Amino acid sequence: MAREPSRATAATGAAQAVDGALERARARVNLAAIERNCERLAGELAEGARLCAVVKADGYGHGAAQTARAALAGGASWLAVVEARELRELRAAGLRDVPVLVMGALTGAEFREALADGGEVVVWSEEAVDAVAAAGGGAVHVKLDSGMGRLGTRDPERASAVVEAAERAPGVRLSGLMTHFATSDEVRDGGFFEEQLALFTRWARGLAESRPGVLVHAANSAAVLRDAASHFDMVRCGIAVYGMDPFGEDPAEHALEPALELDTYLAEVKLCRAGESAGYGRRFVAERDTSIGLLPIGYGDGWRRALSNNAEVLVRGTRYPLVGTVSMDSVTVDLGPEPGELHGEQAVLIGRQGEERITAEDLARRLGTINYEITCGLSARVRRRYHHDGEPAGDGQP
Ligand SMILES: Cc1ncc(COP(=O)(O)O)c(C=O)c1O
Repeated sequence: MAREPSRATAATGAAQAVDGALERARARVNLAAIERNCERLAGELAEGARLCAVVKADGYGHGAAQTARAALAGGASWLAVVEARELRELRAAGLRDVPVLVMGALTGAEFREALADGGEVVVWSEEAVDAVAAAGGGAVHVKLDSGMGRLGTRDPERASAVVEAAERAPGVRLSGLMTHFATSDEVRDGGFFEEQLALFTRWARGLAESRPGVLVHAANSAAVLRDAASHFDMVRCGIAVYGMDPFGEDPAEHALEPALELDTYLAEVKLCRAGESAGYGRRFVAERDTSIGLLPIGYGDGWRRALSNNAEVLVRGTRYPLVGTVSMDSVTVDLGPEPGELHGEQAVLIGRQGEERITAEDLARRLGTINYEITCGLSARVRRRYHHDGEPAGDGQP
């Protein structure tokens, strides 16, 4: 039998938490973990290689400027974003003197904006070099597409011609030679990673020898952990900076600490009699009398609808199943017939509680996606709260 409701809630069988200190859906970001992850990555690097922290997409959902500062404190010396607006936001947040690589396929207007903000841009055609010169000049990184099949030119000779065009163009400075790996996170890739690395090495080493100071860079997080030969002069790390596993398994295996915890609270706890249901479409029907808790987080917060009847939550160190359809603003949890006084309790959706933990990798497996998409997908409605190992940071909220 479910716990009998108190007299105050007997009419509805509900207990609603209204404590003013509670927060609806909250991503707690531990900046100290980001610092330590960067220290750990920097310690891994081949002699002299720099760490560039990739903070695009609002720092993979963690907050770009806050992440950037923590990464710099942890040993990163470059930042990378994808679009000019992301660079502008970093500059506006006070990150004025840090070199920032703007990695995306930019429009003419974006080239102008990125260069005006002191960004270094990526080019792979003479036309793009001309656009940089027309925008008043600036630093460029020439990209060879060594196998990703996305940005960059596939032809090493053409890429070399772009290098020479950059050197001739007025106001343009050749700053880097780069590529990006397609399978560094897939250990059984039939040797594709090694092929990309060999192709890029041949192209870049030849050019760099006669161009001292030009940065050669290729590695993302997985490549950094996979092969030191990919480190060259700089590595561009995103996912590992945030303490997620580039190989999608367990961050702890690589001594990485997840920086983000997602929590909410039990806004209501009420009886659900056998045969009663919870949520749209009645996708959960109680088989026995139980207590259903309401968590005020839903797909409008980035807690995906595909997690309906397909996720767990930690409350007081115990795992409970989420049940019923995830709606835009809420989801329900089966707390069992004897839940005790749980309304108002913290509910952890990503993170640790007691001996239990739920990782972004766990959720990604449930959803058939990757950990990147889990944190990037948290919407702006989720409050970001920053701390250093529990001590409030920045916004004063632990
Ligand atoms: C060009 C480029 N470099 C580096 C990164 C960082 O990759 P990761 O987050 O796997 O470290 C990305 C991310 O997608 C990228 O697009």
